[in-house]
Amino acid sequence: MTLLLNGFELAKQCRAELAEKIKSLSRAPKLAVILVGNDPASAVYVGNKEKAAKEVGIESVAYRFEEISQSELLALIARLNADNGVDGILVQLPLPRDLNEKEILQAIDPAKDVDGFHPLNLGKLLIGEPAPVACTPKGCMKLIHLAKQDLTGLRAVVIGRSVIVGKPMAQLLLKENCTVTMAHSKTENLPELCRTADILVAAIGKPKTVKADWIKNGAIVIDVGINRLENGKLCGDVDFDACFDKCAAITPVPKGVGPMTIAMLLENTVEALERKISL
Ligand code: GUN
Repeated sequence: MTLLLNGFELAKQCRAELAEKIKSLSRAPKLAVILVGNDPASAVYVGNKEKAAKEVGIESVAYRFEEISQSELLALIARLNADNGVDGILVQLPLPRDLNEKEILQAIDPAKDVDGFHPLNLGKLLIGEPAPVACTPKGCMKLIHLAKQDLTGLRAVVIGRSVIVGKPMAQLLLKENCTVTMAHSKTENLPELCRTADILVAAIGKPKTVKADWIKNGAIVIDVGINRLENGKLCGDVDFDACFDKCAAITPVPKGVGPMTIAMLLENTVEALERKISL
């Protein structure tokens, strides 16, 4: 029997727990969300983040710009960094090409970096220091734990080497004693490599790339992809229907990783305020 890793339900549970915790805090956490440009998908993601934040009792302030210069955006981030009432700052990616994304992400106060994209926080993850962790990989780990608590000794393959998903994902699996291989677009014999995986995380960005014969019997499969097909339907990077029976556990798309990314953003925002209060 395959376990369906229902991110929609798990995220709901996480949000309910966060809402309870927020009630016990001395004030509501505050999240600043910055969106630049007119990418429709980013606009939907930011809208969903704001809505979810409000529902659990996080105050959310959105800054939307059709266009903004690098220096104006840096000035806004400096202002939000200095504002003691702001606990978390999120800049939705990708930024328009005329902006220097690395410089923008580095300008965010690491203590307010609820996305975990600041080099200091990525470095802390690497050396095993506590730090905000990127939301998608953090959510993936919670989904994996629905299937299995102790991951020690398992072989994990992560397809995708982005800073947002692949790299932090590999670190989190390594921290839990998996033997981790990172695969990417230049990896040779990808299907063969995937067949060695007890845990397979697909963050490829191409619909239904992972086929049934890539899957080891009894694997845990986490599908980070969100692709829109010509018929308007969403699908993941894994050929879900074909792979389902071979997996011990698999995430669907939609209602898998996506809702968990947002729930982990809320968790990171609450944790940012909690760290501040405990100082
Ligand atoms: N773009 C795609 N995923 C993310 C994310 O998790 N955070 C931000 N800020 N931008 C993204």
